[in-house]
Amino acid sequence: MKFRAIMGALCAAGLMCGVSAVQAAESIEVLHWWTSGGESKAVGVLKDDMTKEGYTWKDFAVAGGAGAAAMTALKTQVISGNAPSAAQIKGPLIQEWAAQGVLVPIDASAGDWKKNLPPEIDKIMHADGHYVAAPFSVHRVNWLYINKAALDKAGGKAPTTWPEFFALADKMKAAGIQPIAMGGQPWQDLTLWEDVVLSQGSEFYKKALVDLDEKTLTSDKMISVFDTVRKIQGYFDAGRTGRDWNLATAMVINGKAGMQFMGDWAKGEFANAGKKSGVDYVCAAVPGTEKSYTFNVDSFVFFQQKGQKSATPGQLALAKTIMSPGFQEQFSLYKGSIPVRLGVSMDKFDDCAKKSYADEQVAIKSGGYVPSLAHGMAQPDAAAGAISDVVTKFMNSQEDSKTAVAALAKAAKTK
Ligand code: BGC
Repeated sequence: MKFRAIMGALCAAGLMCGVSAVQAAESIEVLHWWTSGGESKAVGVLKDDMTKEGYTWKDFAVAGGAGAAAMTALKTQVISGNAPSAAQIKGPLIQEWAAQGVLVPIDASAGDWKKNLPPEIDKIMHADGHYVAAPFSVHRVNWLYINKAALDKAGGKAPTTWPEFFALADKMKAAGIQPIAMGGQPWQDLTLWEDVVLSQGSEFYKKALVDLDEKTLTSDKMISVFDTVRKIQGYFDAGRTGRDWNLATAMVINGKAGMQFMGDWAKGEFANAGKKSGVDYVCAAVPGTEKSYTFNVDSFVFFQQKGQKSATPGQLALAKTIMSPGFQEQFSLYKGSIPVRLGVSMDKFDDCAKKSYADEQVAIKSGGYVPSLAHGMAQPDAAAGAISDVVTKFMNSQEDSKTAVAALAKAAKTK
């Protein structure tokens, strides 16, 4: 009685109105891998919004870029009957989890989503005709970040072709600047490799990494992709083994290195360090990929809670908040992405985000809008993992490009 009276008083005071005692007590456990400076700030917005709505946020953060460690932790939790309320899952993995019968639909929160999402992204959020995932934002993967002072010192402009890129890297080297900051995990290798695949054209990328077309995978063009990656490696520093992506970004932020190939979550790190695009750093499409856009859409799925087959009030509120315009804007401002929800104003965003948005519109129309393999958007886990192994083996050995291409075609058949 007393608790209800307190809730009633809060409601009368305009606080926590409409939140029942049961909802107020609901604790939502959220598994994600957003642990870098910019990422933490972005997920903090969701935590704050949910706390304001009267829910208790239980953070289940598993460090490790691109989520490999988080996915292992998630499997353990689900198998042991302790599935979190929500988890960061994206791309075809959404359907793979849905097929296990462990997710709950969230249609009740998704009334206006269809008209507010690009169709290719709306589709990914579904399983068996129901919404089972809520999308956060769109990350573009094919970016090159350049320290502005290093660029000026090398007397260069942002490169648009590989020859221009190598010329700039040479100039940086000659000026005593470490040309490329590279991290040392398989997903970072795969991110760079898919950038180079994309530089051969979005049709080539689609045939190779979406259709897994054998002829394309074994083509001379693919051999030249591996050759280019090998050449780029010549500009890495010796200390990359095991290095996290955000530490490589920090090298570019601090002027310890000139450039980094990374998706625009790196921009969240620049923003978090108080750096401004065009002033402290430059963002450019990876050479040869100006007209293409590798998309990576983060989303949460919602797990059945003990004894419950449908979504809890907390899960429904979480899904609704994620797609609300205010959250979409603030999250992306911190995260480096652009809102996935259509019609959210881009006024507060920086030039790089505005470029991302403009390039996305062009790429959607021209067919250059392609799913990122390295970030779980293009292939089921098994095939993506096998391809990743081939690329990482190549980049961490002296294997020749022809051998790698043969291994690639074999890996693509992994089911
Ligand atoms: C995720 C991003 C994240 C990045 C680094 C990507 O796969 O989509 O949200 O910031 O990995 O952890």
